[in-house]
Amino acid sequence: MADNLNMTSGQRATDDNIAQPAVPDPRVLLASIVHDFNILLTPIVSVLEEMQGRGAGTARQLKKIDGAIYCAFRAKTLARQLLDFASPRPVKLAAVDVGRLLERLEAPLASLLSTHIRLDLDIAEDLPKAFIDQQLIERALLNLVLNARDAMPAGGRVTIAAAQDRPSPSRTYASGSMIRVTISDCGIGMDEATLKMAGEPHFSTKTNGTGLGLATVRQIMERQGGGLSVASAPRRGTTIDLWLPVMSASFAY
Ligand SMILES: Nc1ncnc2c1ncn2[C@@H]1O[C@H](COP(=O)(O)OP(=O)(O)OP(=O)(O)O)[C@@H](O)[C@H]1O
Ligand SMILES: [Mg+2]
Repeated sequence: MADNLNMTSGQRATDDNIAQPAVPDPRVLLASIVHDFNILLTPIVSVLEEMQGRGAGTARQLKKIDGAIYCAFRAKTLARQLLDFASPRPVKLAAVDVGRLLERLEAPLASLLSTHIRLDLDIAEDLPKAFIDQQLIERALLNLVLNARDAMPAGGRVTIAAAQDRPSPSRTYASGSMIRVTISDCGIGMDEATLKMAGEPHFSTKTNGTGLGLATVRQIMERQGGGLSVASAPRRGTTIDLWLPVMSASFAY
């Protein structure tokens, strides 16, 4: 009588003759999961936003809707980040008017902040066009605004400013004039140890944080030939500079 081991090897010999289904590429599998996940979240976000826009319900219910929109966006961002880490999509650089981009993003970004947090834009005039991947910058801003919100549980102000500037020569990405987009909050800030670790993949001080937000922003900036610098102090808020390459005259025509 065959023992278990023999039965297994016999079975294996038979299986070898049967065409095995191809093992799916984990990156393709992840991409399709993220795709479906985002499709499922989209109607949830739009129904909640519609209720929020109508002012449906009591103040308490509206606060809950506000929280649910925030969570749904976090879930969307998280799904996107997992996908980016598994297989970054190719960068698509183009000339972008950063001022107009920020004005267009003002309302969607403000909707992610609680009613106690104000969002201000401060855009310098005559900004040259940036040479960036707009979708990537939008993702970076989304991450940074969510971090600012987390840092201000009691409310406050987030400012997004854009100006032409030169990064300090000590920066590796320094290459003459760039566009500096600054996201500043007046939240809890970071102590020295946290500041040193912030941006390391999987470092988080939050109970539900993945610690992929700042690491993704850094990766996004580096892939476009730009950079990122962070300044923060406990109870004095955080300022993050995103340095974007400027569209050079030789590319413009
Ligand atoms: N604006 C900020 N104010 C204070 N601390 C911040 C700020 N931004 C980031 N941090 C600190 O840096 C850590 C890492 O941030 P990161 O965005 O990478 O991850 P996370 O926000 O913790 O998690 P996730 O982005 O997945 O929700 C945070 O946990 C927090 O301690
Ligand atoms: Mg984050």
